[in-house]
Amino acid sequence: MSQASPADLERVAAAIRTAARVTILTGAGVSAASGIPTFRGADGLWKKVRAETLATPEAFENDPKLVWEWYDWRRGMIKDARPNAAHDVLARWTRDRPGVTLVTQNVDGLHERAGAERLLRLHGSIWRLRCWTGCADGRREWLDETTPLPTLPPRCPHCRGLARPAVVWFGESLDPAIVAAATDATACDVFLTIGTSSVVYPAAGLVHQARRHGAMTIEINTDTTDASGAVDVALRGKAEEILLDLG
Ligand code: OAD
Repeated sequence: MSQASPADLERVAAAIRTAARVTILTGAGVSAASGIPTFRGADGLWKKVRAETLATPEAFENDPKLVWEWYDWRRGMIKDARPNAAHDVLARWTRDRPGVTLVTQNVDGLHERAGAERLLRLHGSIWRLRCWTGCADGRREWLDETTPLPTLPPRCPHCRGLARPAVVWFGESLDPAIVAAATDATACDVFLTIGTSSVVYPAAGLVHQARRHGAMTIEINTDTTDASGAVDVALRGKAEEILLDLG
């Protein structure tokens, strides 16, 4: 059972039902019920390893095999995971309603596997690779869902140089076209921020932009976050339960 009050749930459900444009930002908490660890919090990935040693261009430069071992381990874990009720409800909303846009920080591909449409992946995909040196043909990402990868680090099929995961690392810029599309989507009637600690920018800024556009802002999270004080309604509880309640 979620701790969200029935009155708050009804208010939010009514707002979502009647809104023409609904934009949803998701983070790692949405995949927690699928058994994928979040980044922050007691059992978070960043409690066990330092982000700087695994998720930066410098880390890859220093030790590409170590970085790939970590991504290969995560890919193996994610491959066996299944979308949960949160992914299913959000995917249905995107399929049933043309005004719903889903923006995710997650690289796991579970929104896609649940059948989500109009999905903007801010931080890339763990299932896609690209050439580390940026050779002409390897600049475009390619899909590789092999787990485990047969050799680490994998190679660019075009120039035989190193391949890297097509995810955004700390210190790197996001794809400007995707940021622009996500920013456009903040001009909405209802904005939900779900299962994210709201500390990584520019994703964490979207809820504030939506608020400035006059959207009703809603947070769904098991804990209080940096965004909690700024939203109109904070629904405390698990995304996979609250989203089922919201329909
Ligand atoms: P975090 O690990 O920072 O935050 C996960 C949030 O989910 C926390 O606020 C938890 O309280 C909440 N949470 C956990 N289980 C939940 C559940 N069942 N239902 C609802 N909420 C739940 O993950 P993100 O905010 O996604 O970046 O992290 C942002 C970025 O930091 C990631 O995309 C990643 C990371 O470094 C890159 O890889 C570039």
